[in-house]
Amino acid sequence: MTGDLSPIDKAKYVAARRAAEMVQDGMRVGLGTGSTAAWMVRRLGERVQEEGLRVKGVPTSTRTAQLARELGIEVVSLDQAGWLDLTIDGADEFDGELNLIKGGGGAHLQEKIVATASDQMVVIADAGKEVETLGAFPLPVEVIPFGWQTTRTLIEEALDTMDVLGTSGALRMNGEAPFVTDEGNHILDLHLQRIGNPRQLALVLNQVPGVVENGLFIDICDKVVIGHGDGRVELRDINEGTIELDQLVEGGENLFSDLAD
Ligand code: 5RP
Repeated sequence: MTGDLSPIDKAKYVAARRAAEMVQDGMRVGLGTGSTAAWMVRRLGERVQEEGLRVKGVPTSTRTAQLARELGIEVVSLDQAGWLDLTIDGADEFDGELNLIKGGGGAHLQEKIVATASDQMVVIADAGKEVETLGAFPLPVEVIPFGWQTTRTLIEEALDTMDVLGTSGALRMNGEAPFVTDEGNHILDLHLQRIGNPRQLALVLNQVPGVVENGLFIDICDKVVIGHGDGRVELRDINEGTIELDQLVEGGENLFSDLAD
């Protein structure tokens, strides 16, 4: 029930809803992964049903693909779409330059490919995801299963020379077994606490043999829609240097009333 939604979930919902309004008829849209992105996909599904909006969606995970199909959104592969007008996705952290940590849901490899193949990437997040300096959230790094422990050792050695506070990497688990990504790989979560130079770290990590992709998104995100639990949303555009404020709960209207089930 809607009354059960936490303030964070309400914040995610309003951010997702605001971003879904950016999608225009005929667009090819990258569909992110995670709980915030799922709200956006649901809203897009509503727009398809109610307005006859025509979009081609490129999902960033099997989870999102399944949800989009269930909602009647046309799903195509990135190769079929070629290039995208817009990608909307969540994030685990973002800083003032809209550098991101992503991959909390283990989908950052496809997410980075899809976002990079888009004219615009819009991140949707609750306000708690904003940080001064990235790194409190463990940085996900996708590695191939072969020799993953050697890869972890090499990563930890590389981290010794980086501007970070921690260097330990933990294999992400799914119960008793290692977590497996859509690409059949594993994830190392790096507990760094602080990432002083995200651009440098992103480059260094991807030089380590066995690393497929790290969860740092540098110069990829163009806009962030920040949601608050009371329905306020803030839209920041890093290229234009603009900030728009919006209020999605107005005049006593309960924006969350149609969120049941
Ligand atoms: C998945 C991601 C997600 O976008 C990120 O983890 C945020 O998730 P949520 O919206 O559930 O907080 O990067 O790989």
